[in-house]
Amino acid sequence: MADGNEKYARKAIGQRISATGIVVRVRARPARWAVQPIMRGSDTEGDATIMALQALFDISLPIIQAPMAGVQGSALAVAVSNAGGLGSLPCAMLPPDAMRRELAAIAAQTTKPYNVNFFCHVPPAPSAEREAAWRAALAPYYAEFGIDPAGVPAGPGRLPFSAEAADVLAEFKPPVVSFHFGLPSAELLSRVRSWGARVLSSATTVAEARWLEARGVDAVIAQGLEAGGHRGLFLSEDTSGQVGTFALVPQIARAVRVPVIAAGGIADARGVAAAMALGAAGVQVGTAYLLCPEATTSAPHRAALKSEAARVTALTNLFTGRPARGIVNRLMRELGPISAATPAFPLATAAIAPLRARAESLGSGDFSPLWAGQNTTGCKEIPAAQLTRELAREVVHAG
Ligand SMILES: Cc1cc2nc3c(=O)[nH]c(=O)nc-3n(C[C@H](O)[C@H](O)[C@H](O)COP(=O)(O)O)c2cc1C
Repeated sequence: MADGNEKYARKAIGQRISATGIVVRVRARPARWAVQPIMRGSDTEGDATIMALQALFDISLPIIQAPMAGVQGSALAVAVSNAGGLGSLPCAMLPPDAMRRELAAIAAQTTKPYNVNFFCHVPPAPSAEREAAWRAALAPYYAEFGIDPAGVPAGPGRLPFSAEAADVLAEFKPPVVSFHFGLPSAELLSRVRSWGARVLSSATTVAEARWLEARGVDAVIAQGLEAGGHRGLFLSEDTSGQVGTFALVPQIARAVRVPVIAAGGIADARGVAAAMALGAAGVQVGTAYLLCPEATTSAPHRAALKSEAARVTALTNLFTGRPARGIVNRLMRELGPISAATPAFPLATAAIAPLRARAESLGSGDFSPLWAGQNTTGCKEIPAAQLTRELAREVVHAG
């Protein structure tokens, strides 16, 4: 198969470029780029079985709104899907009844394709010793806020995809299902596939992308280090070898035959065009949607995104036990951003919850996970449909 990135290096602007999952035509226009996705099947070197993202998901814009647990529900997903992108509903923090309500709301408000997203970590066995060490680390803050640590319940905070979740999903048969932290068991995955759902998952390395492709995903989300929220890593816990989006996308595009979706730091139309010129079939954008009115982003989180503080993000494990990127706040500065004291994911969350609630009630985000990617310049207080169209502005459709 032709390698799009090698051809890109060889050919000048204005000529045809072959890239994994799509063929793009890039041409210079006054002060902007136009990237034109075309079905690979129309290219003589093409592989007709590999489709552009629009064809794969039956959407008109190659923009996926990233699922973002805790800061959005059905409203954001509906707005993006109705605008021609692929809206996503994150379910990691939704018990079955809440999931059912949100899926019913989507079904009632759009006939367009949408994505439903799950975490698929293996729940850890709770360790009393680690829980005690974590609470000891937090003790000065409990004292500061007058919280009795004995009254703080333990618990997971985030749930992996399960048979119960699959039962709810089967009632709605969503056209796209995406996963973070690998894939669920083969049995659960085949249930999702039984109604024809397309399956996606995030890869943070080439090895993870190959692993996902070997298990039959329809597309790989290449999650660069800039991305907000949890690193989707699952083959290794080591973040030291992880790279940025524009290093990761071409490497994954070379390594797999399925379409590659670029995620991390993409915040405007030029970023979308650039990711597609590097071999992505489309993009998954999270952070840029956080100020949209349809998102449920908290007031302290919105304030942080609009402030100078948003320029400084870091990977932290303090809020859940796994590395995730957020705006640096007091807890991250004082205990981290990475700590050896946290219980395994997702058990770190429970002990922080009352501190977060108390601080937020005082208007402070000092103890909140202020998830955001490294590029917050695209965050705008505009309707999500408008943002989706703006992100796709440089993309010119074939035919
Ligand atoms: C607030 C927030 C919450 C997130 N939650 C999830 C999630 O529930 N599931 C998931 O697959 N990815 C989640 N992500 C990661 C996104 O899928 C995606 O990789 C990331 O937003 C892309 O980078 P960007 O934020 O720079 O656009 C989250 C990201 C953010 C910013």
